[in-house]
Amino acid sequence: MLKELVLLMLVAITFLPVYLLYFKSPPPLPEVDLNEWWGPGERKEDTAIKPFKIKFTEPVIKDLKHRLKSRGPFHPPLEGIAFEYGFNTDTLDSWATYWLEKYNFTERENFLNQYPQYKTNIQGLNIHFIRVTPKVPAGKQLVPMLLLHGWPGSVREFYEAIPYLTAASEDRDFVLELIIPSLPGYGFSDPAARPGMDTLAMAVIFRNLMQRLGFQKYYIQGGDWGSVITSNMATLFPKEVIGYHANLVLLVSPTITFFELLGSIYPPLVVDSKQANRMYPLSEKFSFILEEMGYFHIQATKPDTVGVALLDSPSGLMAYILEKFSTGTNRLFRSRLDGGLEYRFTKDQLIDNLMMYWTTRSMTSAMRLYAESSTKRHYALKLHEIPTQVPMCTIQTKNEIVYLPPWLIKLKYPNHLRDNPLDEGGHFLALELPQVFSEDILDAVKTIRQWYKNKNVKTDL
Ligand SMILES: *[C@@H]1O[C@H](CO)[C@@H](O)[C@H](O)[C@H]1NC(C)=O
Repeated sequence: MLKELVLLMLVAITFLPVYLLYFKSPPPLPEVDLNEWWGPGERKEDTAIKPFKIKFTEPVIKDLKHRLKSRGPFHPPLEGIAFEYGFNTDTLDSWATYWLEKYNFTERENFLNQYPQYKTNIQGLNIHFIRVTPKVPAGKQLVPMLLLHGWPGSVREFYEAIPYLTAASEDRDFVLELIIPSLPGYGFSDPAARPGMDTLAMAVIFRNLMQRLGFQKYYIQGGDWGSVITSNMATLFPKEVIGYHANLVLLVSPTITFFELLGSIYPPLVVDSKQANRMYPLSEKFSFILEEMGYFHIQATKPDTVGVALLDSPSGLMAYILEKFSTGTNRLFRSRLDGGLEYRFTKDQLIDNLMMYWTTRSMTSAMRLYAESSTKRHYALKLHEIPTQVPMCTIQTKNEIVYLPPWLIKLKYPNHLRDNPLDEGGHFLALELPQVFSEDILDAVKTIRQWYKNKNVKTDL
């Protein structure tokens, strides 16, 4: 009996990879309603594109300062503890004081309004976006690119990268035009009025936004949830998306899981030895998930409950969001008293991002994205398993929450052209290393344009 069992397992281990790689047929493309109505009330779309400016109004600032002033006292941290139990409350106190006394609301408002912003109604939701159109030197082509943020980030993550991304250079025959929207329910974009606004529905919203702005073809880029939404765009609209760049590769499928498990027996089977410690040992990965992903479970199940507290308390919101910027940048920062927050970020940068959530009271609707994208209906779409021919490039930072070797990325993206396994950096790359982030994107566009040229395919971009 045992002999048969061993034999059966050997046969399975031999043929399962062959089946998964060569014979398993991909799921069908989901059918989507390109005009699904998400707004409150009657279907009535205003197609105007209206200029928009961020305003930190006097009543909002006054109320915020009042709440910051009447905060605490927080429960003191345990002796010898930094961020291991969550945000260190001594550190939080100094940050809250800064927000109350030093953060210059007028100056930051001006800073945030330095790029042209607009709102336009898509499928019933007023969608906020930054649009930066640089001057085009003679002989260069203007190439549009959509950039998408995630949670708990915002359009603020891209501000320092914008000048690098839109610069002209001798070694490129193009300049980028940037479209940087707030996700529905985030910051200055309206939340959906009813259930179902998942990463697929958002992909449709942003495709329609690009159409509204007159872009029939364009490039896309994303990190965090933005990488999932842009991946869905590449899957759904391969004729419109000319190229794709991601700084997070979040592909989950039975095939990928199988090979991840197989690699835990002998890593060289699946991953280059230089990157092996980003995937293995698996036990470290699992304990990381258990220790750091509790928020995911809460937001995927009861976002509205935790949202009540976060909408009521700016210091609570600050602890909840900035803890992610600490651990997301480097998980070893858990043992630093200051959470390593100012290793690569300034207080102003991170509080600007908080202001996006606080002044718009958008934390609850933002967290709902976890719930909407964790439904049985959403998982049944198996979007990660539908291959798309859109050419793509990736950058995977050293401290990113996941790492996938290029050959596994190719299961979904056969035209994955190159990966940059960066030896530094974390989850919030655009804000942390704006120049590195931008150069990798510009190199990706260059690589993709050359790839089309080599194949003699005319894309106009
Ligand atoms: C805040 O910024 C504004 C605009 O830059 C400036 O005029 C003002 O003096 C600043 N306030 C303080 C207290 O620094």
